[in-house]
Amino acid sequence: MKYNYLISKSSLHFTLIIGLVFIVGSCKTQKTTVSTPEPTSENKISYEKEILPIMKRSCTPCHFPEEGRKKMLDTYDATSKNIHEIIERIALPATDPDYMPFKSKKPALSAEEVKLFKDWLAQGMSK
Ligand code: HEC
Repeated sequence: MKYNYLISKSSLHFTLIIGLVFIVGSCKTQKTTVSTPEPTSENKISYEKEILPIMKRSCTPCHFPEEGRKKMLDTYDATSKNIHEIIERIALPATDPDYMPFKSKKPALSAEEVKLFKDWLAQGMSK
């Protein structure tokens, strides 16, 4: 009787310890799986690689030197400082007076390209 009691007590401890290990272990794995993955340098949108080529194609000559007469948007600093207005204007319908590229002198940006600007902003605008 006493012997049986001892066994069950130690196996209770054993179960508790296993249980604790399991809980601690699952907390750890939960932490790593729940945290949202940071965009890596490979899938992060880059100013030089993605944004600048679109700006060069669609916003020249008006916003780029030498011929540009409007606000210069030819650098990372200028683009990131004006990003909210840029997104606002390129996302407008082409008939809107504020729409860019100005007066449809150039083809409108595609929906994917507008999204690229928005995602670039959301990801923290890497160079
Ligand atoms: C054909 C010339 C032309 C092209 C191409 C053009 N723009 Fe413009 N942009 C203008 C003119 C003219 C203005 C000033 C009138 C206005 O504010 O609507 C202007 C104004 C702007 C402004 C406001 C600047 C300020 O003074 O605060 C932004 C932002 C802008 N454009 C972004 C763009 C972007 C982004 C592109 C390319 C997708 C682009 N523009 C293409 C002529 C152009």
